[in-house]
Amino acid sequence: GDPRVPRINAAIRIVPDFPKPGILFRDVTTLLLDHQAFKDSIDIFVERYKEQKIDVVAGIEARGFIFGPPVALAIGAKFVPMRKPRKLPGEVVSEEYTLEYGTDRIEMHVGAVQPGERALIIDDLIATGGTLRAAINLLERVGAQVVECACVIGLSDLKGQEKLGGRPLFILVECEDS
Ligand code: PRP
Ligand code: MG
Repeated sequence: GDPRVPRINAAIRIVPDFPKPGILFRDVTTLLLDHQAFKDSIDIFVERYKEQKIDVVAGIEARGFIFGPPVALAIGAKFVPMRKPRKLPGEVVSEEYTLEYGTDRIEMHVGAVQPGERALIIDDLIATGGTLRAAINLLERVGAQVVECACVIGLSDLKGQEKLGGRPLFILVECEDS
């Protein structure tokens, strides 16, 4: 494995019983406090995608907005925010996804991504995979090609990857215990 990953892993704080009892919360804000670990996480993504002709990096509100833009700048791609409902002023396409209780929705501006463009989706974490799947659906609905989804953290026992229908997923830190 990459020798930079253990430091990234160690910089992510684990908070028990947040936001509710029984949940082991992965807190990426502590990763951002460790300059070297934060830089390493961005660098690993940049090294992986810089020669892949990525046109667009799509980041998912809110925590995908932390890791997406530095990668987009470094690889020469545009950045497109995928936002929570009713935040974007222009015409949007939207996708609902299922949460533990109820549903949520993400939206993207029509015209931000063109048919045939090569897209990379970035978020901080995959759990059930519902959020990433909604982002894939949005991009594919406007004719983009999703090259890969990339997350800092993957909760492997939640089987989120199965929701992605075979589209590639790249994870920096795999967590066995959610
Ligand atoms: C968290 C996390 C991912 C998503 C993963 O976001 O940042 O985006 O959940 O869960 P899933 O794989 O089960 O869909 P959250 O919606 O809690 O909000 P935030 O990023 O705005 O903090
Ligand atoms: Mg999120």
